[in-house]
Amino acid sequence: MPSHDIALIGLGVMGQNLVLNMDRHGFAVAVYNRTRSVTEQFMAERAAGTAVIGCFEPAELAAALKPPRRILLMVKAGGPVDAVIQQLRPHLQPGDVLIDGGNSHFADTARRSKDLEADGLRYLGVGISGGEEGALYGPSIMPGGPPAAYETVRPIFEAIAARADDGAPCVAYLGPLGAGHYVKMVHNGIEYAVMQLIAEIYDLLRRGLGTPAEALARTFAEWNRGELASYLMEITAAVLRRQDPLTGQPITEVILDSAEQKGTGRWTVQEALEMGVPIPTISAAVEARGLSALKTQRLAASRLLHGPQPGEPPAREAVEAAARQALYAGTVCAYAQGMALLQRASGERDFGIDLAETARIWRAGCIIRAAMLEDIRRAYAAESSLSSLLTASPFREALGEMNAGWRQALETSLRLGIPTPSGSASLAYYDAMRSARLPANLTQAQRDYFGAHTYQRLDREGAFHTDWLAEG
Ligand code: 6PG
Repeated sequence: MPSHDIALIGLGVMGQNLVLNMDRHGFAVAVYNRTRSVTEQFMAERAAGTAVIGCFEPAELAAALKPPRRILLMVKAGGPVDAVIQQLRPHLQPGDVLIDGGNSHFADTARRSKDLEADGLRYLGVGISGGEEGALYGPSIMPGGPPAAYETVRPIFEAIAARADDGAPCVAYLGPLGAGHYVKMVHNGIEYAVMQLIAEIYDLLRRGLGTPAEALARTFAEWNRGELASYLMEITAAVLRRQDPLTGQPITEVILDSAEQKGTGRWTVQEALEMGVPIPTISAAVEARGLSALKTQRLAASRLLHGPQPGEPPAREAVEAAARQALYAGTVCAYAQGMALLQRASGERDFGIDLAETARIWRAGCIIRAAMLEDIRRAYAAESSLSSLLTASPFREALGEMNAGWRQALETSLRLGIPTPSGSASLAYYDAMRSARLPANLTQAQRDYFGAHTYQRLDREGAFHTDWLAEG
């Protein structure tokens, strides 16, 4: 007799932890992994004493599930997802629900969804954030797909999701097709940006001012108690506190400065270019990872290229206070850009994403969870078509008050030769957004000069061309 509520395929650490989370909430889970020994080991060790059952064939897994079957795939994005779907397909029946919980590209999710629909199968693309710990104790869950299919998994997701301070589970239906994976992609873009902004401030204080790692750990821990409170701040303080057992140095001093990436940040930038939504703080963060990875070239160039002469060291306390403001302001810009992208895609791609709901489900469980997300939620709840988060309270006021400090921190970095790609991009974004007039009038004139591309005027309607070679 089919007896199990849900199946999970792909027993990586995230998959395993999600299984244990579902089991702890009273759902009967059947599991399957391509490599038999992984299932055996999971069943013997971590799943011992639970109601989880291990299956060794897709047919066995399908037979264990109550109809309509609900199967959560936690496999690597790309080819492996298609391979698992093909393997499962002959064992499924119309109405069954396949759920991709990995970091798949939203366009792949839409393609799979349409393909499976031909067999009456329902597909959900679900972003799951929170890393290993989130998976075990409560992730933020971003589902997209057919609403009726979502209803079949909703009780499970609501039970296992993280809960924000108001007790609400961090999960909400976001829209059709790839909407869930789209929101997760943008979440990751923001994640890249906030991580880069923190890294730039760390660089200013550590390399620029020579602050020891332990002292920096205290600074970040202190900032984490205020307006900057977030999971990424919390772990930054913890990382800076950690000693390397091999050398006794702070562990950050011995970690190679070359950042890796799996692609979701790059996808966000590609998509933003496609949509024509500027997200410079996020783009700069993706580029910064690329630059960091040029370690060999940087080492060679560091022996040849000159920077500023060391002058009077700036006063630490003043720089720290300014850096705190720059970090807050940069982070607001990253969110403003991510939300603007979601807003545009929501219309152009027919996702109909609710931005207030998105901010709500990011308040706990996910990697970018932060105190400011409640303010962001309120801003979009008050005005869903808000044209820029920068103009909403309390951000508009805070950015005004922090303006001098924000600029001072960046000026200090510039003077010391510390690169601030995301920080500088944030301030430029802010300054561009608050400029009623930008120099694009000149750009338009140049385009018209060399290519007769025409321009519009401020004072009358229509397209105009100047005969630039004629005497003016
Ligand atoms: C999350 C994270 C996660 C992501 C990794 C690594 O929300 O839990 O975003 O999904 O895969 O953090 O991403 P990169 O390897 O691209 O840094």
